[in-house]
Amino acid sequence: VLMANNDVSVHGIWASRWIFILAATGSAVGLGNIWKFPYMVGVYGGGAFVLVYLLCIVLIGLPIMLAETLLGRRGRQSPVNTLKSLAAQSGGSSKWSWAAMVGMVGALFILSFYSVVAGWAFEYIVAMGNAEFGGISAGAAEQRFAALTGDPLRLTLWHTVFMIFTAWTIARGVNAGLERSLRVMMPLLFLLLLVLLGFSMTSGHFKEGLVFLFHFDLSKVPDGILAAMGHAFFTLSVGVGSIMAFGSYMPKKTSIGKAVLTVGLIDALVALTAGMALFPIVFAAGLEPSAGPGLMFITLPYAFGQVGMGQLFGFIFFLLVGVAAWSSSISMLEPAVAYLVERTKRSRALVTTIIAIGCWVVGLGTVMSFNILADARFFVADEAGWHFFAWTETGGKTFFDSIDYLTSRIMLPLGGLCFVLFAGWVLDRDVVRAELAMEKSRLFPVVYTLVRYVAPVGVMIIFLTELFK
Ligand code: PFF
Ligand code: NA
Repeated sequence: VLMANNDVSVHGIWASRWIFILAATGSAVGLGNIWKFPYMVGVYGGGAFVLVYLLCIVLIGLPIMLAETLLGRRGRQSPVNTLKSLAAQSGGSSKWSWAAMVGMVGALFILSFYSVVAGWAFEYIVAMGNAEFGGISAGAAEQRFAALTGDPLRLTLWHTVFMIFTAWTIARGVNAGLERSLRVMMPLLFLLLLVLLGFSMTSGHFKEGLVFLFHFDLSKVPDGILAAMGHAFFTLSVGVGSIMAFGSYMPKKTSIGKAVLTVGLIDALVALTAGMALFPIVFAAGLEPSAGPGLMFITLPYAFGQVGMGQLFGFIFFLLVGVAAWSSSISMLEPAVAYLVERTKRSRALVTTIIAIGCWVVGLGTVMSFNILADARFFVADEAGWHFFAWTETGGKTFFDSIDYLTSRIMLPLGGLCFVLFAGWVLDRDVVRAELAMEKSRLFPVVYTLVRYVAPVGVMIIFLTELFK
């Protein structure tokens, strides 16, 4: 049965049909593309990882994004309440809303470390502005980064600044906060990106980087398969309800399919561009691509210090990273803020402040995992067996690694799996078809198959592969 549904959410509605694309792209394009993707490609050995990542985006990530968007627009509430009310309308169990609850918490966990890393970018905006890297040696660039991550107070300072930026934008609401900032941030982001692309294309050394990115060595696939899927979720911001929340502010007339394809395409292009810009520099500098999280903060600043106008472009680059991180972080806060506003009927400003403080506190764990708590490790396996926690310099995961692992590899895929199952199996087929405006489209069965079978089975296979490897 097609139920009557609302045309507005209590939180607001995007002023035009383009704003959803702006908001979802803002959410998707972030540290995941510019910082995480290149270093993961390095760690997991190049092209094989990229191939699995792209497959996961098309076959799993995009169907889930589609599902989240249509659920949001149909439900017109925070993800938790959207699933509750849609379940009630479709005769499904209200337990489905737990998936949104897990996702919501996952998004807040992500924000806790995202804010710390975004803080590094802020530090580097200032450093580049002061031309600190002119002619610097590779070793000095490494020390510069180590000095930053070794200083908990400095990290906390930037973490605080970034969290305030994020909370401030969200507190002002869907239209006055989110929408107004995105209208400025996104054009700026693309302008900066184009400038940088031009810069990196004229700096040569393209080939080695390209080969590294696109040389598909299939023997390396099994290693990074869960990592690649986890990153596909992370980079598209799916599995947490952020896209669902943004979908709930989407005007009726916007085409969901086109919007989702646009967002996915831009996100993948930005990641590949970042890789293409970064790896040639890594190789030219004689450095290792497997450097891990520090890749962007050591290799790039060093490279910028070696070339003419490098400091200026370095400044532009880190500004881009900062803006991209900011337009993503706001989307991590939105599901929880919308939910608590609905639930407590308190003001958005109050709710935002409280949640942001909570995330800030958890973020201190990430701050300290680079210095005073570097030896506090979780999930440690050694000769004596397996420990949840141990003090050790080797093995296990730091607090930061643990939260990153828990969210990307477990919470996001599980959340996404539930969302896509809900759209495919609980919601009425006609509702899905109508929401996608595909009543007359012959493509609908293809899309519906992706949502109903391909994406969920894909997630399950990858989970099982990991379990039995
Ligand atoms: N998609 C963002 C990125 O690639 O940096 C990260 C992200 C944003 C993850 C929002 C989750 C989320 F809810
Ligand atoms: Na992304």
